[in-house]
Amino acid sequence: MRKISSDELRELYLKFFESKGHKIIPSASLIPENDPTVLFTTAGMHPLVPYLLGEKHPEGTRLTDVQKCVRTGDIEEVGDLSHCTFFEMMGNWSLGDYFKEEMIPWSYEFLTSEEYLGIPSDQLAISVFEGDSDAPRDEESAKLWIKCGIKPENVYYLPKKHNWWGPAGLTGPCGPDSEMFIIRKEKCSPECSPACDCGAFLEIWNDVFMAYNKLGEGQFAPLEQKNVDTGMGLERTLCIMNDKESVYDTDLFEDAIAVIEKLTGKGFHDDEDTTRAFRIILDHTRTATFMIGDRKGITPSNVDQGYVLRRIIRRAVRFGRNINLPKGSLMEIAQAYIDKYKHAYPELGDNENKIKDELMKEENKFQKTLQTGLREFEKVSARAENGIIDGVTVFHLYDTYGFPIEMTEELAAEKNLSIDKEGYEKAFAEHQSKSKAGAEGKFSAGLADHQEETVKLHTATHLLQAALQKVLKDDGIMQKGSNITAERLRFDFSFPRAVTKEELKQVEDMVNEVIRQDIPVVMEEMPMSEAKERGFFGVFESKYGERVKTYSVGDFSREICGGPHAEHTGELGRFVIKKEQSSSSGVRRIKAVLEKSE
Ligand code: ALA
Repeated sequence: MRKISSDELRELYLKFFESKGHKIIPSASLIPENDPTVLFTTAGMHPLVPYLLGEKHPEGTRLTDVQKCVRTGDIEEVGDLSHCTFFEMMGNWSLGDYFKEEMIPWSYEFLTSEEYLGIPSDQLAISVFEGDSDAPRDEESAKLWIKCGIKPENVYYLPKKHNWWGPAGLTGPCGPDSEMFIIRKEKCSPECSPACDCGAFLEIWNDVFMAYNKLGEGQFAPLEQKNVDTGMGLERTLCIMNDKESVYDTDLFEDAIAVIEKLTGKGFHDDEDTTRAFRIILDHTRTATFMIGDRKGITPSNVDQGYVLRRIIRRAVRFGRNINLPKGSLMEIAQAYIDKYKHAYPELGDNENKIKDELMKEENKFQKTLQTGLREFEKVSARAENGIIDGVTVFHLYDTYGFPIEMTEELAAEKNLSIDKEGYEKAFAEHQSKSKAGAEGKFSAGLADHQEETVKLHTATHLLQAALQKVLKDDGIMQKGSNITAERLRFDFSFPRAVTKEELKQVEDMVNEVIRQDIPVVMEEMPMSEAKERGFFGVFESKYGERVKTYSVGDFSREICGGPHAEHTGELGRFVIKKEQSSSSGVRRIKAVLEKSE
């Protein structure tokens, strides 16, 4: 195995798949488009779901990218050797193009060839799906691997729990997968396999043979097109290739570590507690930098993505205190990340000031109450009854000192105490008619659905955006977020003040007039430059992206968008705005529905 840097690894991966006829596409935003079921992009395939289900992708049927991802299910685990809330996933896709016969030899070539990763073949182990009533035993993949040169004794058949991949939700594209592992040490027993967590096998890559659409629990329909979806974690691969103990010891973190060492006078590996605090600050600041610096950037708030952002910034600040990190340091650490990553993610360079401003603001806000809050916590924990801190107190810590409930829970756990969550919810609900804190927990992971109603609401969102621009006479209205369920649309956009009742009525009337005229919704593919020239609206995040898909409704609305959409505006029914409110500073939120027209 050869030593490799993060920049080399990204480049090698993309180059390899480019040489196999793939188009390199840019990373999509961290904030999913039109997907109400998850807050963040959690895998490389996530932004590609419509195409895996059959939509045509403007760049063709072979794609490759390095996608920024955020997974926040294990925030409290961050601090150990391996957990990160942000990571990059290298991946490649066949959209109804090649399948196992091509993919497996390519994976083998990339892993073992001296030109690429150069891993000795007998250091690789493979798992394949053992088969059940939903899909057959994947002997075909096993044979292909052995033909490539993998030792037969290093191929393992495992059940669905291990060798089936689909996004966590109830529905969506999925299928059996084949995972690749580095054999790091002797098996712990003769039965030991890649399913064992003794550390003998380290997963490096996953090839998913996406041939099914999960319609519901236990219901699988064959997909019309057979896809390949693969994912290789950049951090983890770097760690393995460079023989590091932890992902935090890879080059990605070097500069940020140097900044923290300089600011605190401490060494990253001084002692266990220091290392843990360093890792928490390193991870959370990097994630916050990417969240704020995203093209659809988010800012700290009390709901949804903004709440997660607030939570991780505050957790970083709290652990900063343990290693004497001076106040106001997060922006300096962020600067190290901006400099490290901006060539690969130019949005970080473009949003440099915003990233630092937002981090500074949120850190200042929390620093003001942190010390007194911690003192208050000491007091309340000393008088906790039966090892439980009551809900009203947990709410008080949140409301007065800005302690997210998860932080109080973590502080309590450090003293072997727990917290009364139900009591907290109740206290919260009493103070705010509609509690949304911790909203992430209320989202079940899943996928954009393509139900008819959702598709119609997607088209209605385009009409709404166009009408807002015309009524508010502000071409600069930027979409800040779109979230569609089968019942309603929710649209966030930048605008400095509340929209008046009269203006909302005009917007509603304008959209309904376009619906009445029953205008066709036209899809066209074109180069990004032409789309810009012709006044199509969209988030121009393209770095490599050449051809894009556009949708227009006469002259009324023109957007760069992946679709899908209704065919005619007449299908939409009656458009009704239900609510207009502030979402965060400088951002308004509109909720609207489509009613059946009489
Ligand atoms: N989508 C697959 C994964 O995330 C490749 O592991």
